[in-house]
Amino acid sequence: MKQRENWTSNLGFVLAAAGSAIGLGNIWRFPFMVGTNGGAAFFLVYAVAILIIGFPVLVAEMSIGRSTQRNPVGAFKELAPDNTPWFIVGGMGVLAGFLILSYYSVVAGWSMSYIFKALSGFEAGTDFAAMFSQHTTGIAIPIFWHAAFMAITISIIRLGVVDGIQKATKILMPVLLGILVILIVRSVTLEGAMEGLSFYLKPDFSKITVQTITDALGQAFFTLSLGMGAMLTYGSYLSKDENITDNAIYVIVFNTAIAIMAGFSIFPAVFALDYSPSAGAGLTFITLPGVFANMPFGTIFGVLFFILLTIAALTSAISLLEVVVAYFVDEKDMERKKASTIMGIIIFIVGIPTILGFSSWSGFSFLGMDIFGTYDWVANNILLPGGGLLLSIFAGYVWGSDKLNEEANDSNSLVKIGTKYNFVLKYIVPIVIGFIMILNIVKSVG
Ligand code: TRP
Repeated sequence: MKQRENWTSNLGFVLAAAGSAIGLGNIWRFPFMVGTNGGAAFFLVYAVAILIIGFPVLVAEMSIGRSTQRNPVGAFKELAPDNTPWFIVGGMGVLAGFLILSYYSVVAGWSMSYIFKALSGFEAGTDFAAMFSQHTTGIAIPIFWHAAFMAITISIIRLGVVDGIQKATKILMPVLLGILVILIVRSVTLEGAMEGLSFYLKPDFSKITVQTITDALGQAFFTLSLGMGAMLTYGSYLSKDENITDNAIYVIVFNTAIAIMAGFSIFPAVFALDYSPSAGAGLTFITLPGVFANMPFGTIFGVLFFILLTIAALTSAISLLEVVVAYFVDEKDMERKKASTIMGIIIFIVGIPTILGFSSWSGFSFLGMDIFGTYDWVANNILLPGGGLLLSIFAGYVWGSDKLNEEANDSNSLVKIGTKYNFVLKYIVPIVIGFIMILNIVKSVG
């Protein structure tokens, strides 16, 4: 049997896992969710969601991975009783990796192309909404950037866990942090920045509804890369000497800190330059270019912002591709370089319809959504929560919480899990995820 690679340091693992967690969800989605859903009040709900759903599922994924040293399919095969179909949960994860990366890369491609748009200078007075829609309804250009982003992702995964993922995240994560700090300093020192801070953080409990709660839970899940075996796969390269519970806390703290910081880099500037904070999804690609166009030295900060967004997307994308590649390497005996290239190209092709859906294939509609929206919906409403639900049931009941505790706890870890954790994993997590899944599906269909 081939020798399986291990992270060469604990920091290497934490940076890689945090890199997976920190992505478009942190820089783009989290800030506007906080800003439009009651500020600090929303943050409290989110923190509870991280605590009762995020932490338990994260620890379960990492433990299953480390215990088996396998990809998601192989891991379930090894731990489940013989002749039971639990490996299908791992298979759903691999499928989710294919699907999510295929459109995640399209958005990352937009971000890459915006680095160059920023470089040539966003001009004040431009209709940035028109610029964005012109970009996304194009065909050759978005496909080119989607291909470029996939090529970078593939080239990292081809190099393997230590020389590829660990090395890349060790360089990229500090760069990401550095850029974010520069952007925050710029943003909060603009005149009129305070108003943005108060919009971002002022607690408004009247904005907390059932919808906010389910959104917060969904965000907790997506932002920690849970439900499809990404953290399981990264955990499978963790040596038995490292401890899981503490590492899970480090990843959560790092991930949340970056998300909060992203808001500090955005809202003060948006308010200082009199833009509307409630552009929702368009905030990043439509509002921010306007902000950069009107800000002193906006070209530099605009370029830095889109580099930041691209780096965040890249360290997440490699974790998505790694899940797929680990499966073909472990289970189908494929050579890593070959698996990376072939699967990466297939994922690139699978993503192309999401681009065409904005233009020539705009006739497509599923529950009122275009192709991009459909991919995103299937991933976020079916595959990820479904995977997380089944994984928590498996960990709590089939593998069993005793074995899980034994794997996760280490004599020298600061945080130890036990009866309270087991109760949450077995009763709270499945019920809450199941409830939200049903609620969301009913809402979309109805
Ligand atoms: N966590 C990433 C983000 O916040 C997205 C992501 C990467 C992801 N890998 C994942 C989500 C695996 C779910 C599963 O943007």
